[in-house]
Amino acid sequence: MTVLVTGGAGYIGSHMVWELLDAGESVVVLDRLSTGFEWAVAPEAKLVVGDVADRDLVGRIIRDNHVNAIIHFAGSIVVPESVTDPLGYYENNTSKTRTLIETAVREGVPHFIFSSTAAVYGGAGLEPVREDARLAPESPYGLSKLMSEWMLRDAALAHDIRYTALRYFNVAGADPKGRTGQSTPGATHLIKVACETALGKRPFMQVFGDDYPTPDGTCMRDYIHVSDLAAAHRLALQRLRAGGNSLVANCGYSHGYSVLEVIDSVRRAFGHDFDVRMGERRPGDAAAVVANSELARKELGWTPQRDDLDLIVNDALAWERILTTKNSVRN
Ligand code: UFG
Repeated sequence: MTVLVTGGAGYIGSHMVWELLDAGESVVVLDRLSTGFEWAVAPEAKLVVGDVADRDLVGRIIRDNHVNAIIHFAGSIVVPESVTDPLGYYENNTSKTRTLIETAVREGVPHFIFSSTAAVYGGAGLEPVREDARLAPESPYGLSKLMSEWMLRDAALAHDIRYTALRYFNVAGADPKGRTGQSTPGATHLIKVACETALGKRPFMQVFGDDYPTPDGTCMRDYIHVSDLAAAHRLALQRLRAGGNSLVANCGYSHGYSVLEVIDSVRRAFGHDFDVRMGERRPGDAAAVVANSELARKELGWTPQRDDLDLIVNDALAWERILTTKNSVRN
């Protein structure tokens, strides 16, 4: 019994691979290596370089490795890019996911776990958002993921496959053992940007707007440690294997931090100040996006272990230092 992890050379996927290996699972990774890194894949996992929409290849991987579950991370994730290249996003995230689901059904893979996003809700308020809230994606990215959720829902009604779609909030941090982390160059995520600035990889950073209707005027997000997120997937897999029904659940901690609180945490972790400038609002940013995560806690038995902003930031900063060393060795 093997788990196929698509996008297993990427940020969240590479953590998932370690999570599964640590739990004694056998893992095969399928990744195009377009944004992921070969070195990010744990050596104990088998890596196949290829596309999730390559029916023959995926069919062969499933049969040769006795794959009985697919965890699907591969996809494009940059919200503004999805606005300028919507068709690319619908192709990469929706169309290819459709083909992958079809292959899974054809090959009789009974369990499918899908990485969805809080972006399916659109602008949420200060109140934690529940799964049954209005779905109103504000970007092709969010819609590309929502359409994938719907395809899974319909496929699960028609065929012998059950799924879990986890809607991620703001994933951050890195493997506490320092084995992998967020490594994409030019990343736009707040915690990564702040860590890069602290370490001098950027001359300064900006706070995108301080006139939002939040306590300190800056946007609030629900930052979730990537290891807790990987654990939620492992629990989802266990639940499906135990006969659990299909499920769509939020993955966040149910409380938000402002941009300024995050930057303060990075200052604490780093021990010194760095150049932070107040900037204009970034188009498309919602004032606050916070999960109601009761469903994941109840249905998956998920108890987050690293629900602490300073812990998330410490792990992110530690990984940023490791990455500096890796890059200087490679150059
Ligand atoms: N921010 C700054 N300065 C920066 C970077 C970010 O002030 O240099 C602010 C943003 O304006 C926002 C907050 O920090 O208010 C978080 O921004 P991120 O870019 O880290 O994350 P987003 O909330 O915009 O997006 C994330 C994921 C998406 C996902 C979305 C779901 O990156 O993939 O959450 O809500 F779709």
